[in-house]
Amino acid sequence: MSLFKPRAPVVPAIPRHIAVVMDGNGRWANRRLMPRFFGHKHGVDALVRTVQACADRGVEYLTVFAFSSENWKRPEEEVSGLMSLVLVAVSNYLRKLASEGVRIRIVGDRSKVSDKVRAAWDEAEAVTRHNTRITLSVAFNYGGRWDIVQACRRAIEAGVPAEALTEARLGEFMAMAYAPDPDLFIRTGGEVRISNFLLWQTAYAELHFTDCLWPDFDEAELDRAIAAYAQRDRRFGGVKPSPAAVAAANDA
Ligand code: IPE
Ligand code: IPE
Ligand code: MG
Repeated sequence: MSLFKPRAPVVPAIPRHIAVVMDGNGRWANRRLMPRFFGHKHGVDALVRTVQACADRGVEYLTVFAFSSENWKRPEEEVSGLMSLVLVAVSNYLRKLASEGVRIRIVGDRSKVSDKVRAAWDEAEAVTRHNTRITLSVAFNYGGRWDIVQACRRAIEAGVPAEALTEARLGEFMAMAYAPDPDLFIRTGGEVRISNFLLWQTAYAELHFTDCLWPDFDEAELDRAIAAYAQRDRRFGGVKPSPAAVAAANDA
């Protein structure tokens, strides 16, 4: 019997697509007796580090939640601070990310953001459009429910008949139709919820929650998340062959 033959890895060690809810900026700043904006500013640095670390590890897609469709509920001062941070981040980091082979995509409802922010996002996409090392998708004014509704609307506008509207067909209208579904979903900041991030796309993502506050997120945290992911047994609703069946196949 060869029950003790080494098993093939259950999942590839490196996820192709990682999605991150970058949470905890405000608490990180509070702990330092600083305004929340200070946390968001350091959050941008953590993001740039994480893009680099993911690219180095061979992750093909990194999708980050930067501003949710519910974040408009925050005080006006914080919302405008976050909008101005987009402009600062694009002006400080776009050239660097572009030169490192990062392709940037923005997902979310752009109709509600200012012309300046929209122009910054358009520029980020245009400048990096031909890059292939890693795709960084920034979810901005994004909500998972918004995404499903906009996909339905566009499918109707495209004249898709009801009987032809399969999961695959509707998926073609989702905001991230250009990417495979996330393999690994990480949320920092200690909350254990999705907060209306990629509801459709994370149906079979492996979930990883950490108390680490987003501005503290580093390579060691990323490696812990990837190591946890590599231990998961992804079944997608199916079953794995029993050890006895594996042994019999190996002996045959
Ligand atoms: C996440 O950090 C960033 C955004 C939502 C823009 P938070 O601002 O939610 O930080 P906490 O959760 O209050 O600590
Ligand atoms: C989720 O964080 C949104 C982003 C990280 C952009 P929130 O801080 O807005 O989520 P809740 O309010 O704790 O659910
Ligand atoms: Mg939060």
